[in-house]
Amino acid sequence: MAGRVEGKIAFITGGGSGMGREHALLMVEEGATIIVSDVNEAGGRETLSMINSKGGQGTFINFDASSESAWQAAVSQVISTFGRVDILVNNAGILIMKPIWETTGPELDRILDVNVKGVFFGCKHILPAMQKAGGGSIINISSIYGVIGANMASAYQASKGAVRILTKSVAVEYAPFNIRCNSIHPGVIRTPMTTDLLTTDASTRAILGSTILRRPAEPREVAYPVLFLASSESSYITGAEIMVDGGYTTM
Ligand SMILES: NC(=O)c1ccc[n+]([C@@H]2O[C@H](COP(=O)([O-])OP(=O)(O)OC[C@H]3O[C@@H](n4cnc5c(N)ncnc54)[C@H](O)[C@@H]3O)[C@@H](O)[C@H]2O)c1
Repeated sequence: MAGRVEGKIAFITGGGSGMGREHALLMVEEGATIIVSDVNEAGGRETLSMINSKGGQGTFINFDASSESAWQAAVSQVISTFGRVDILVNNAGILIMKPIWETTGPELDRILDVNVKGVFFGCKHILPAMQKAGGGSIINISSIYGVIGANMASAYQASKGAVRILTKSVAVEYAPFNIRCNSIHPGVIRTPMTTDLLTTDASTRAILGSTILRRPAEPREVAYPVLFLASSESSYITGAEIMVDGGYTTM
């Protein structure tokens, strides 16, 4: 039986850890070839070897998603090797949890560079290749913190809110080219990013906030919605925001 993304070429940023790794592994199980990209060389190479041990195909590119020239080089490398990109998952991100008055200018710059410019440059440089190939699907990883307010996360929230609306801009601008662009808004997911926040029952309860399912999610529970948006099953969905948050934003 053909996989849900059989024969597709998928570029995943931040694929060396957490959810990015899980998106890569699930898409490989469903027939895609994966370009794993990350600043973390060891993590990225580990994901690639997990892909290969599943019998999947892929490559690893070590690059900083916040650098436009790194994007240009990565995309030209991928096009010369694979010929096209069908799926882009802009997943790389960093978290800074601090009150607004303690957030420094350089910290704000860095979070906007990675979380916003990284997504912008990814779209900017992969869109022409998708246009040439006749279409594609872009999935931008925002957060529930891009939609609702929270304590101690103003810089992160500013970045994830920007990703939410940038997604809609891309959807509008590129719909005529059969390119869809949607955002995923994870709630509390068990990854290296949240390890320090989920150490005790009390800290877990605090970070879960109004999650009505009363538990953090495993990365695969986010990978399935990403796979859906990547596949042709979601062919009439663009500019949408999908909460994957155990109902956090329901109440
Ligand atoms: N874990 C959660 O609860 C949660 C909730 C909402 C949103 N998110 C978002 O999901 C995405 C994945 O997060 P995760 O939880 O898997 O975190 P993670 O820290 O496990 O993985 C993030 C990956 O991104 C990479 N990365 C960081 N900066 C980079 C850069 N400049 N260039 C290339 N790669 C870079 C890291 O090396 C790492 O491998 C992030 O965008 C994050 O903001 C996470």
